[in-house]
Amino acid sequence: MHDFDRIVERRNTNSVKWDGLDQLYGREDLLPLWVADMDFPVAPAITEALKKRLEHGVYGYSLISNRYYEAVIKWMEKRHNWSIQKEWIVFTPGVVPALSYAVKAFTKPGDKVILQSPVYHPFYSSITDNGRHVVTNPLIYRDGKYYMDYEDLEKKIDSKTRLLFLCSPHNPVGRVWKEEELRKLGEICIKNDIIVVSDEIHFDIVFKGHKHTVFANVSEEIKENSIICTAPSKTFNIAGLQVSNIIIPNRRLRERFIIELEKDHILSPNIFGQEALIAAYEQSEDWLEQLIDYIEGNKDYFMDFVKENLPQLDVIDSEGTFLLWVDCSRLNMDSEELKDFFINKCRLALNQGDMFGEEGKLFYRFNIGCPRKIMEEALMRIKEGVESL
Ligand SMILES: Cc1ncc(COP(=O)(O)O)c(C=O)c1O
Repeated sequence: MHDFDRIVERRNTNSVKWDGLDQLYGREDLLPLWVADMDFPVAPAITEALKKRLEHGVYGYSLISNRYYEAVIKWMEKRHNWSIQKEWIVFTPGVVPALSYAVKAFTKPGDKVILQSPVYHPFYSSITDNGRHVVTNPLIYRDGKYYMDYEDLEKKIDSKTRLLFLCSPHNPVGRVWKEEELRKLGEICIKNDIIVVSDEIHFDIVFKGHKHTVFANVSEEIKENSIICTAPSKTFNIAGLQVSNIIIPNRRLRERFIIELEKDHILSPNIFGQEALIAAYEQSEDWLEQLIDYIEGNKDYFMDFVKENLPQLDVIDSEGTFLLWVDCSRLNMDSEELKDFFINKCRLALNQGDMFGEEGKLFYRFNIGCPRKIMEEALMRIKEGVESL
């Protein structure tokens, strides 16, 4: 059994999450449950593989090995029932860069890209920073759950709309989209000649009773019209190693995407990232199963605690991911007051919901990929904060 309860000191490791809080939040003495990496050490096989490569001592330019491709292909088959070919796999040093490359490859300046808000904030900037326009197709929030709004989507499409960014599973709302939901979306996009970039970076962390469907697996037509962004980074907590695989079955789309990468001379992963991916996909499935159970346990603890002690909060019951989306509107504060409350009263570093879109104004995102003690401490601080109001 892996010990996910063990707390590892991450301060002074150049961690985005733990160091430099002063700059972002105006004070250093905060407990961070924000940016999406986890506080757990990686699976032992990953550490072993990295040590072995480190001890070799020569760290020159790397090629992508056959073993790397095989590991990716087998993972997709085994975990996602998705049969892919080696040529479809395109390496990028992150999913966010891939979103930006997709914008450049499949749209022209002035074109429109649709996203389903509230959504992971770089979806917006990868569109606007490239001189394209964001079109929001907000999710419907009904009875504590989120749904896609197909009617609104069809209304928003015009001749300048070329691309749609799908987040599946969805960050921050925690939906694991059902096959029928994806099919409906995919068919609307095909009908209107809109390519879909499906960011599936959270696809391995899905809770009991839910099943992730790879968007390209929904139908042959959808497969030919989609770019699937995958990575071992969220799953195995190796975001700092910067490895992701963009899987593009359609040759024409793949070639256009690769042209953009070549312009920036993006060729192959760094040697450590490559070793980590192989050790993760080949040898760390058992660690992942235990991790999923632990995170689901964290979610249950969080929801039970809130029910008993913080009835003013509404936690969206997530179906996957290590992120929890919490509706704070019944605390009866505006967004500035909420910000002050969480930072200065509770001393927590969280993601303020409006960074995911205006619909998130009175929401907060909690990262529960941490030892339970850290989460308990955060919840206690909120309880005390509320009691002192
Ligand atoms: C939906 C989503 N996409 C992409 C990323 C980041 O991807 P990368 O670090 O590979 O650029 C995150 C990280 O939080 C995410 O939640």
